[in-house]
Amino acid sequence: RILSGDAYPLTPNPHPATDSERAALMADPVFGKVFTDHMARATWSGGMWSDRGVMPLEPIPMHPGAAVLHYAQQVFEGLKAYRHPDGSLQLFRPAMNAERMIDSALRLAMPPLPVDDFLAAVAALVQADAQWVPQQEGGSLYLRPYLMATETSLLVQPSDTYEFVVTASPVGAYMGGGGGVSIWVSRGFHRANEGGTGDAKTGGNYAASMLPQQLAKENGCSQVLFLDAKEDRYVEELGGMNLMVVFGDGSVATPRLTGTILPGITRDSVMTLLADAGRPVRERDIELEEIREGVASGAIAEVFACGTAAVVTPIGELKSDDFALTVGDGEAGPVATWVKKELTDIQYGRAEDPYGWMVRV
Ligand code: PLP
Ligand code: COI
Repeated sequence: RILSGDAYPLTPNPHPATDSERAALMADPVFGKVFTDHMARATWSGGMWSDRGVMPLEPIPMHPGAAVLHYAQQVFEGLKAYRHPDGSLQLFRPAMNAERMIDSALRLAMPPLPVDDFLAAVAALVQADAQWVPQQEGGSLYLRPYLMATETSLLVQPSDTYEFVVTASPVGAYMGGGGGVSIWVSRGFHRANEGGTGDAKTGGNYAASMLPQQLAKENGCSQVLFLDAKEDRYVEELGGMNLMVVFGDGSVATPRLTGTILPGITRDSVMTLLADAGRPVRERDIELEEIREGVASGAIAEVFACGTAAVVTPIGELKSDDFALTVGDGEAGPVATWVKKELTDIQYGRAEDPYGWMVRV
């Protein structure tokens, strides 16, 4: 099946980047700093979605009193398009992103965008900007769909108008080269609490993560790991990815979805790949103390992070105010390496896709 973008008619950019400009922009893009020639848009007004289309990428004028600028009524998604060896362009499990954006929207009291609508917008944008999907190893087109509240109002109440926008950015790896990255365990600062918005993909969660993320950077780490807000005891997730722990006996565990963690699509995919290889992943509470002791004693062999931007990123070092631990030999371990290869072989069309995860546009 080929995904249709027909619901989002194209108004072509009259001044697209030239071939040489595009080649220069795509040579070594910083994550999320390069954007393609087009964007997709739809508007919620009068209780319905309308004005769907793909159009030249341009600024979106807003009244300074627009609701999103004040109370952050916003949700977003992240997914990637890959160029396969046969030249086709393929999305990875895009319906999961569409469904998660519905869940996020409902939590933020926003009108959900139907799954087919989301898929059509993404497909139309990838088709319009097909030349921007990288060829090189590890490259992909990162798609950023989002919903935002546009009503001019300082009342703290759901907006009556919204914009749905999708942008596209050619990207390479989000973090690290091949080896393990250093992670800062945040003490005291949390990203989410029970009954809050931790399992919704909304900008506010990321705003809350900036200060601890800055502390991580100041301490020489590339990402922050959050503990639960109630007891400051169980590991939850990183600022922008989920966490997996591999024990010396080969078993794997990941924090269970408590409502304070984003239900990652990569997390789900990694769990499926490992389960089908005879390594079911246990979803359970994991204490920081268990990780500290396990890493120190060797009972924990690997720790890795996973997410759309991060793919599979081995963690080589865990640090906080009061400890610093090297995980294994500090390099990528065999399980992370295996699962990364399995996952990316499917994503890049180098291996068969027994799960039907890839969707052609
Ligand atoms: N956790 C957070 C906070 C994220 O921002 C992301 C990235 O989207 C993930 C986990 C991983 O989710 P996914 O694998 O769906 O990209
Ligand atoms: C993604 O992986 O899509 C994310 O949203 C993570 C973000 C930190 C870039």
